[in-house]
Amino acid sequence: MLTTDLEITVHKLAPEQLKEKPDQQSLGFGQYFTDHMFVMHWSRERGWYDAKIHPYQDFAIDPAAMVFHYGQAIFEGMKAYRSKGGETLLFRPESNLERMNKSAVRMCMPRLPVDRMLQAIKALVYLDREWIPTAPGATLYLRPTMIATEPALGLRPSQEYIFFILASPVGAYYAEGFNPVKIYVEDTYVRAVPGGVGEAKTAGNYAASVKALTEAQQKGFSQVLWLDALEHKYIEEVGTSNAFFVINGELTTPPLGGTILPGITRDSVLQLARDWGLQVNERMLSIDEVIAAAEDGSLQEVFSSGTAAVISPLGELNYKGKSVLVNGGSTGPIAQRLFDELQAIQFGEQEDPHNWMVRVA
Ligand code: COI
Repeated sequence: MLTTDLEITVHKLAPEQLKEKPDQQSLGFGQYFTDHMFVMHWSRERGWYDAKIHPYQDFAIDPAAMVFHYGQAIFEGMKAYRSKGGETLLFRPESNLERMNKSAVRMCMPRLPVDRMLQAIKALVYLDREWIPTAPGATLYLRPTMIATEPALGLRPSQEYIFFILASPVGAYYAEGFNPVKIYVEDTYVRAVPGGVGEAKTAGNYAASVKALTEAQQKGFSQVLWLDALEHKYIEEVGTSNAFFVINGELTTPPLGGTILPGITRDSVLQLARDWGLQVNERMLSIDEVIAAAEDGSLQEVFSSGTAAVISPLGELNYKGKSVLVNGGSTGPIAQRLFDELQAIQFGEQEDPHNWMVRVA
């Protein structure tokens, strides 16, 4: 059931109860949380109810809650930006909410009323607006999340859920910042299978990826590049983001075939590149083709895109023990231009031709 006349009640902390804000130069990623959060409940009988913004606090959840046992959990990642002129801006928030509803359908969870949730996001961001960092490139990361809370151990969709939104001031996702990272091409573990849940932003996809990530990090890499599950041959995505390759001046990324995350930054990158007149291809691309292009000199750039990662240049790929440097290990011009243009739009410093930015009142 979708509830459209949902009232959002607000319980604000008094000024003297507000937390001390962290140093903006050492925010890292997702380590600090603002003073308030949004929470809303769902039951089969009532639909969505009890929508509240209240002080950031623990949940009391039954240990039999289905999320703890069968992992019905979905989330989103989005950001609020403070422009130089002091405006608060959100980047394509409806796209995140619509994607969350697709994840919900795949995971047999209730859909969200998009308009009301946009209001909830705006209200939370406005209330905690002092937390939006002003340091260059820093933002307020928003984490809308839905979990199954019915206490029951029979395997079926939960009949109760909590939806909540956390806000966290963040700097760059990678310790390297906007500098090329080293990537391990994963040829043993896989992220998603055709017919599985790879295109849903569900917690289990991330849980399933941490072993490969940990092993790659132990070998000195920042992330893994996933290959397809059937042939271990075609590029899928990077651990936290979508992958792009510039070969012979053309921008290529794997198509949305059900196993990769339909990134909102991915879609924006494709749009900007098309606006610039670049040849853009969404097609299957094998790791052998990438390595061959690196060897014959036609591989010009590799980078990834995501909300947390923004645009992250990939400076080195390691596949089956062999390393290839990309663009001499430096950031390439297309990744740089995309990063600059995207950030300029997001921070309100450049025209927004696709009406991506939404102002928070
Ligand atoms: C995001 O980019 O927003 C994500 O959810 C990826 C996560 C691993 C930080």
